[in-house]
Amino acid sequence: MIAEPTSYTLESLTEKLQGLSNIEALRTLANLFPGEVVFSTSLGYEDQVITDLILSNNIPIRIFTLDTGRMFAETYSVWKKTNDRYATKIEAYFPERASEEVLMSTKGPYSFYDSVENRKECCGIRKVAPLNRALKGQKIWVTGIRAEQSANRQSMPQLEWDEAHSLYKFHPLMDWTFEEVKQYVKDNNVPYNPLHDRGFVSIGCQPCTRAIQPGEDFRAGRWWWEDNSKKECGLHGERVKE
Ligand code: ADX
Ligand code: SF4
Repeated sequence: MIAEPTSYTLESLTEKLQGLSNIEALRTLANLFPGEVVFSTSLGYEDQVITDLILSNNIPIRIFTLDTGRMFAETYSVWKKTNDRYATKIEAYFPERASEEVLMSTKGPYSFYDSVENRKECCGIRKVAPLNRALKGQKIWVTGIRAEQSANRQSMPQLEWDEAHSLYKFHPLMDWTFEEVKQYVKDNNVPYNPLHDRGFVSIGCQPCTRAIQPGEDFRAGRWWWEDNSKKECGLHGERVKE
């Protein structure tokens, strides 16, 4: 008897993916959970690699981006280039209009610099709520997280259960180094955000992202004014390394 997809335990699913290449693993998940695997792209380096893996190999996984309304112009151009290169249309999820209007009308356009609470409020409206809509009814959420990105992320397994969204998260590039990511992009002529050539490593919203200095933590350019080494915007939870 074929098991229901929902009956896969973390252990059994991990076992199924054991020893598979990323392409094989993504295809296996897409076959096990047809129409229920999604990939969230921020259009950064790592995500462009995954987009290439999915689209160059015709793997039926839906790709979406959370358009916060505060992204860099360069991010929109790489989005367009990606649509053109793969003859695809990356799906967009937007913040809910009423919440955004209240936020901007009551607190103005830069409230996130004033307090962590305000920053979380903005991320909640622009990223977390749209993400929740995008993940509704899905079984597998593919992301471009890598262990090297922060101390926080080193404790994440490649496949994990996400209690908050009631689905499995799969991070195909978990063990890749930044150099490997760059090399893949170069070798495969994958479109990428030109900001990466100007010292930007992790690219999020324009007002909350800056370039980093050589030797700095990968995520040092995100919400740099906050004094907290475990910075996450709420997409991936506030994890504490044991
Ligand atoms: S964040 O939590 O700080 O914003 P980060 O930029 O490191 O995340 O990206 C980690 C992963 O989260 C990406 O590989 C991608 O899967 C997802 N992600 C981040 N930002 C977005 C976005 N704007 N739209 C869709 N997915 C995103
Ligand atoms: Fe708002 Fe900055 Fe979060 Fe973007 S990263 S949603 S602009 S607080």
